[in-house]
Amino acid sequence: MTAQRIDGNALSQKLRADVTHRTAALKSKGVTPGLAVVLVGENPASQVYVRNKVKACQDSGLYSVLEKYPENMTEEALLARINGLNNDASIHGILVQLPLPVQIDAQKVIEAISPAKDVDGFHIASAGALMTGMPGFWPCTPFGCMKMLESIGYDLKGKHAVVIGRSNIVGKPMAMMLLQQNATVTICHSATKNLKDITRQADVIVAAVGKRNVLTAEMVKPGAVVLDVGMNRNDEGKLCGDVDFAGVEQIASYITPVPGGVGPMTITMLLVNTLEAAERTVI
Ligand code: GUN
Repeated sequence: MTAQRIDGNALSQKLRADVTHRTAALKSKGVTPGLAVVLVGENPASQVYVRNKVKACQDSGLYSVLEKYPENMTEEALLARINGLNNDASIHGILVQLPLPVQIDAQKVIEAISPAKDVDGFHIASAGALMTGMPGFWPCTPFGCMKMLESIGYDLKGKHAVVIGRSNIVGKPMAMMLLQQNATVTICHSATKNLKDITRQADVIVAAVGKRNVLTAEMVKPGAVVLDVGMNRNDEGKLCGDVDFAGVEQIASYITPVPGGVGPMTITMLLVNTLEAAERTVI
């Protein structure tokens, strides 16, 4: 059996068309959804990410502003800028690109963002809302994974979902979202023993470690659904995920490729969150 691919580009296109449509409707009521993207320093990967985020906003008719600051910016100055954006009515979403330079406490900066504008979903208020099933913003990458499962009509109720990785950005919120859909959820991490024995029991596996070949064919139950959040480079310098795609593709029923899988969905859900933030100001 060869797995069907869940195409993140195609799904993104569909969801972004809806964002474009809803954005136009909101504009006709006099509100243009606005996203502020804040980049501190010169991290090359971050520069590519923020450019893509700003471009995606423009393509869907959202307003976006990219604010770039030097590597030596102080924490105080950044906190002051966040305060300014919190009070700026043209801005509905604030995204501070991570990582931040060492002199800045990232968590402190995230907590300074108004939860109403926390479109990354990293604020503790957003994390608490997700955990308790209250309205709030969901982190974009796991949110995108949920949309991918929804796109194949997958019913998580009673299924065993295994998340490999426990980051605040992906692993932990991913587990909460799967739990909310009534899956039985196991979180595995670097100290997990007998990882293979656990993943072999999974109906759904989300690999979110940031290391190549974390999941190989013999670790997967035939017919399982595999979502690959990884973003790595192989020996030839080509982009690859956490999953041994060629091997696992032969075992799984559905699989997300890298590139063209979860990656584009992350930006799409950022657009969705920003639009939602703007819509909430008029409803
Ligand atoms: N750095 C890597 N991924 C992300 C993300 O999703 N949001 C932010 N703000 N920074 C990141």
